[in-house]
Amino acid sequence: MPLTRKAYRAAILHSIADPAEVGIEASYEYFEDGLLVVDNGQISALGHASELLASLPADIEITHYQDALITPGFIDTHIHLPQTGMVGAYGEQLLDWLNTYTFPCESQFADRAHAEEVAEIFIKELLRNGTTTALVFGSVHPQSVNAFFEAAEKLDLRMIAGKVMMDRNAPDYLTDTAESSYLESKALIERWHGKGRLHYAVTPRFAPTSTPEQLTLAGQLLGEYPDLYMQTHISENLQEVEWVKELFPERKGYLDVYDHYQLLGERSVFAHGVHLCDDECARLAQTGSAVAFCPTSNLFLGSGLFNLPMAEKHKLNVGLGTDVGGGTSFSLLQTLNEAYKVMQLQGARLSPFKSLYLATLGGARALRLEERIGTLQPGTDADFLVLDYNATPLLSYRLKQSKSIAETLFVLMTLGDDRTVAQTYAAGNLVHQR
Ligand code: GUN
Ligand code: ZN
Repeated sequence: MPLTRKAYRAAILHSIADPAEVGIEASYEYFEDGLLVVDNGQISALGHASELLASLPADIEITHYQDALITPGFIDTHIHLPQTGMVGAYGEQLLDWLNTYTFPCESQFADRAHAEEVAEIFIKELLRNGTTTALVFGSVHPQSVNAFFEAAEKLDLRMIAGKVMMDRNAPDYLTDTAESSYLESKALIERWHGKGRLHYAVTPRFAPTSTPEQLTLAGQLLGEYPDLYMQTHISENLQEVEWVKELFPERKGYLDVYDHYQLLGERSVFAHGVHLCDDECARLAQTGSAVAFCPTSNLFLGSGLFNLPMAEKHKLNVGLGTDVGGGTSFSLLQTLNEAYKVMQLQGARLSPFKSLYLATLGGARALRLEERIGTLQPGTDADFLVLDYNATPLLSYRLKQSKSIAETLFVLMTLGDDRTVAQTYAAGNLVHQR
């Protein structure tokens, strides 16, 4: 195959470590006039334009973006494909919200054509918002995952998804059985896991909607294939936590249910974790499990405030999740805007560099994909964004007052959204142009 080499010149910023571990200054690299070189879908060089240009052939194609910032693509560690049509549903908290809005909306995925239509809309929306990798809940119907992976494969995206397993406490029209969920998940794993840049996640919805038999089979699946993911929800809402205690009285608590069925591990991502206790954070960290922090959802559904400092204390891997449709935006910039406020309400801060880390390298680490995505290090996938400093009149005016990249970054996260993402590249291909 002939080498396709391209270079991109702009201000360039990426996270290289967790500020909680190395301090803010050592956590990022910033090139005011940077150059990113891409060979056949992978990053081959990153540095100051003045230094790198001399080493490149004179005829190399260079795209120069003015008043713009190149960052790694964003990573959404928790989102629901079949809830695209119900974002912003009024009035309820988690359990009533599921029954009133979520389950009826997800039932539409019984129709294959509907699943295909929404998968296209959903992927476009991810890319418009600069999300190049997401960990995605399908519906209970296997075709939700087939439709999603077919659309993602066409664009050579790095994506993770799974069919929801739920065999109780949900309407009959939306439940599977322990055995059917096992067999259908297995067929999807055989078809998609490890194909191109696609990965499969075993997806028990949450403890209340699975019987012990189904949770046992979910754990069994994880043992049958290497590098499978596991995604579920945990300790999002106080009523939910009480319900789990009633349903599993023999277990010590919510996390212990998942622990008992062997669902913890390095590729396990638990959404929310708003009401986790200290011991549960310690156990999650000990098993290498990760938590998805979903601030827009936790505020919208009145679930509570995620305790990021506690997670940091335990060195727990944390990614950022939009949790659409409980969350109210596909934009990880808007998600960070809300994350900052969640910290403020707890008397804590979220520095712009920690925010960048959460949306990129932190998410990649939560997914054990930091060798492939989440930074702009040479040798990784060329999944990156061009953020436009002039996306809106207010952003443009505000950024003219900025005195540092820290201030610029913070304002991008406060005022920014899908309009800020001018271009999205995945595997070196332009997959969204505003
Ligand atoms: N817990 C179980 N299912 C769901 C869901 O679809 N969304 C949210 N936010 N929490 C859940
Ligand atoms: Zn969710």
